[in-house]
Amino acid sequence: MNVDQLEIDNFDKYAHEWWNKRGPYKLIHNLTPLRIEYIKSRMEIKNANILDVGCGGGLLAEELSKLGANVTGLDASKKTISVAKKHALESGLKINYVCSSLDDFIKKNKKNFNGIICFELIEHVPNQKQLLETIKKISKKSTKLFLSTINRNIYSFIFAKLIAEYFLKIIPQGTHQYDKFIKPSEINKMLNDLGFETEDITGVKINPLNYNFSFSSITKINYFMSATKT
Ligand SMILES: C[S@@+](CC[C@H](N)C(=O)[O-])C[C@H]1O[C@@H](n2cnc3c(N)ncnc32)[C@H](O)[C@@H]1O
Repeated sequence: MNVDQLEIDNFDKYAHEWWNKRGPYKLIHNLTPLRIEYIKSRMEIKNANILDVGCGGGLLAEELSKLGANVTGLDASKKTISVAKKHALESGLKINYVCSSLDDFIKKNKKNFNGIICFELIEHVPNQKQLLETIKKISKKSTKLFLSTINRNIYSFIFAKLIAEYFLKIIPQGTHQYDKFIKPSEINKMLNDLGFETEDITGVKINPLNYNFSFSSITKINYFMSATKT
């Protein structure tokens, strides 16, 4: 199974903090409007069947659901899924949350997704190629895949690892392993080999004064990718 138990233990530890806008997931809260803008500009969200793999506490899943998507949120952390379920209930949203690895999920579910989201997950799994292979298995022709992650170079090491975790402490220490950071060209190659056509790679930059995000042509640290299954 393509799950790193140490990662899951770590996410379990902070599961109760998912909806705390000033907590360890503050940056993800701030990034969510930009993610929605990114997805919205590339696919019709209303009535779409969307699978959010590694959905966390449901920050994105809830926004997609509010926009009319039928959302399935999948996460391997039990505590995280229970937080997501509780929050959706309180928000009056109908989201199908499942606690599972993607490998197990695909055994019981059909290829019925118009969109698959894989935000900030690929840098947390043991086998990145295998994750994309499994995503391929649940994709049908024209399924849109959206990914976001962290590039691997000296800039991302300094800003996304050292400064974010140890100097500014805006994310918990040990959240990221540098060797799991992945270059857009590496994902692009794997996706092309699997029959996906990459349509876009867009960088994301952070305003250091208010920690708000915007799109950037620079993909050296955080970036989004979108691709379609051919
Ligand atoms: C950094 S969080 C990102 C959450 C969400 N995608 C977002 O960006 O708002 C990573 C999430 O992936 C989950 N996760 C880690 N490894 C996983 C795996 N192998 N399969 C499913 N979920 C996993 C964690 O429990 C955590 O909730």
